Amino acid sequence: SPIDSPRLTVIGTGYLGATHAICMAALGYEVLGVDVDEEKIAKLQSGETPIFEPGLPELLTKALDSGRLRFTTSYTEAARFGDVHFICVGTPQQAGSDAADVSYVDAAVRSLAPHLDRRALVVGRSTVPVGTAERLTGLLRELAPAGTDVELAWNPEFLREGFAVDDTLHPDRLVFGVASDWAEERLRAAFRPVLEYGAPVVRTDLATAELVKVAANSFLATKISYINAMAEVCEAVGADVKDLADALALDDRIGGRFLKPGLGFGGGCLPKDIRAFAHRAEEMGVGQATSFLREVDKINQRRRARTVDLVGELLGGRIAGARVAAWGAAFKPNSDDIRDAPALEVARTLHGLGADVRVYDPAALGNARRAFPELSYGESALDVARGADVVVLLTEWTEFREVDPDALGAVVDHRRIVDGRHVLNAGRWRAAGWEYRAL
Ligand code: UGA
Repeated sequence: SPIDSPRLTVIGTGYLGATHAICMAALGYEVLGVDVDEEKIAKLQSGETPIFEPGLPELLTKALDSGRLRFTTSYTEAARFGDVHFICVGTPQQAGSDAADVSYVDAAVRSLAPHLDRRALVVGRSTVPVGTAERLTGLLRELAPAGTDVELAWNPEFLREGFAVDDTLHPDRLVFGVASDWAEERLRAAFRPVLEYGAPVVRTDLATAELVKVAANSFLATKISYINAMAEVCEAVGADVKDLADALALDDRIGGRFLKPGLGFGGGCLPKDIRAFAHRAEEMGVGQATSFLREVDKINQRRRARTVDLVGELLGGRIAGARVAAWGAAFKPNSDDIRDAPALEVARTLHGLGADVRVYDPAALGNARRAFPELSYGESALDVARGADVVVLLTEWTEFREVDPDALGAVVDHRRIVDGRHVLNAGRWRAAGWEYRAL
């Protein structure tokens, strides 16, 4: 019966939605992926994943072959098919504001609701300003023919790019923001195999579930900016932030994860989530409680500026006309995502200052080229370093760590390197005659 094994729709087939749809079908559910973008739907239906994510293409092929996964652009079909509808559309930062743009979430609910004429659960997974779920509950009541038989729940996701499949199948926890026992039961049915793997459930109200997501990302961002603030202090007094971080990490109340000093955080989530959270808290009259997030953001931005300064220092102040090899474009390794990528911001700033910047990234070159055609690109780490006056490591891909200092030294004009991610062995590079600087 549908209660035991509900049929799922996943609305929005971007990062989160595509992963969720594919993984749920892999777990045995009948899944319909829904998107307004016909091209995206056609690609997915033909077995092509829209994103670079290890393991996902194989799972997509299997799911399509099993017949359990299909895609559509029709909301009528979605409403007819689904018992549980997951909303996984994006909530980007609004242009010219710190607020999140929830228009895609609203549009999804407005498109789906008029077709909901029987009992169903609509589950929000997007990252939204607190209070959105309550507002959407009202919208559903107003627009769905089945009235109060349609309920809304909130179930934030915590998956990391690069580990999206594993994070979806084996999450640290599932947060079920619900307004009734029925909604919780339905969610349990929709995640049964994941629960059987042992994922703990935290049941909350709607607002708490919305907040868990932004509170988690704010904590992670704060931890990164905390160690980067310590890096600023260390630099001023000639102390070593790497050793400092190692020592802090051994206190298991602190822990070493997200405590890596360097160029700081970027991507489609952390930067925009802390801004949207601070903005929302200000709207709610509790801006004092989140004002530290403004500082977290500033510390993080200063990292990018400091990296540019370090390059300038190594070049004796002469950035204009210098040849710079930029290693990395993605916002983090094992990803082709360049949204708010610190690496590309540094490369573009150097370019703006008149440097001849050549960028290489193992996965994100295509995206970088499309977004910033004004920069030059090369096909390998050594290729972009030919004739360079300085090499700048901006994204900590493994292949950069494995470059031999002498092999690189043979192609550059000057042995100068800035390690923006603290991943190279400083002693080894200095011994090979390199001027080595880290943040
Ligand atoms: C982040 C969260 O980790 C996920 O839990 C969350 O679900 C996701 O956002 C989301 O909101 O959807 P993600 O953006 O994929 O995931 O990337 P992270 O692995 O968290 O890295 C974020 C940024 O922090 C990267 O730019 C990374 O280079 C940087 N970082 C990370 C540091 O600068 N230092 C560190 O020590 C760790």
